[in-house]
Amino acid sequence: RTAPAVIVAIDGPSGTGKSSTSKAVAAQLGLSYLDTGAQYRAITWWMVTNGIDVTDPSAIADAAGKPDIVSGTDPSAPTITVDGTDVAGPIRTQEVTSKVSAVSAVPEVRARITELQRSIASAAGTGIVVEGRDIGTTVLPDADLKIFLTASPEARAARRSGELKGADVQATREALIKRDAADSSRKTSPLAKADDAVEVDTSELTLQQVIECVVTLVEEKRAAK
Ligand code: DC
Repeated sequence: RTAPAVIVAIDGPSGTGKSSTSKAVAAQLGLSYLDTGAQYRAITWWMVTNGIDVTDPSAIADAAGKPDIVSGTDPSAPTITVDGTDVAGPIRTQEVTSKVSAVSAVPEVRARITELQRSIASAAGTGIVVEGRDIGTTVLPDADLKIFLTASPEARAARRSGELKGADVQATREALIKRDAADSSRKTSPLAKADDAVEVDTSELTLQQVIECVVTLVEEKRAAK
């Protein structure tokens, strides 16, 4: 018989190595991969590009159903388009990053994106690794395995700023802490660890160690299915 599909939810704040880990685990195990942050960034990009006032939740709610967001789920080449346009680059700009928390806090936006995520997960043949903030708690509460990645603020800021130095590390760290605070305190499906999630503190681990840890946990779950 063929192995049953395995659903893996990986949540946590930014700068914990969530994307790199999720992609590598999916590639190693032959699973699909979904970056849900990219979907929230894509809808934010569309709002900004179309002149929607992102300080006005009712304007965001009214527009939430308009853009057509499509995610490609191959972990070795994930893609994201809005109305057929490749937005992989534009969704990573400072402007989108600074506005994504406000847009993703609007319930109509979350409902729309959550529905998209569930349909992608249910269509994934061998299974899927879905990374985000509310996957284990809200989007896929019945996931086979839930991982919650954490790291110290210092480790997260250093990873996010990469080769940047001094003031840039400080600014990156402050922006990141502000975004996490907003994502954790919003009313609708905030960033949170599910009760049944395995928490992995990545502060003192290499990326390779985190990947191995998660791969082992997935293989155990798969063997038990
Ligand atoms: O993972 P990321 O930094 O690309 O995510 C961008 C933003 O999207 C993040 O600040 C909060 C939001 N987000 C969310 O609300 N729920 C998710 N499942 C994933 C991301």
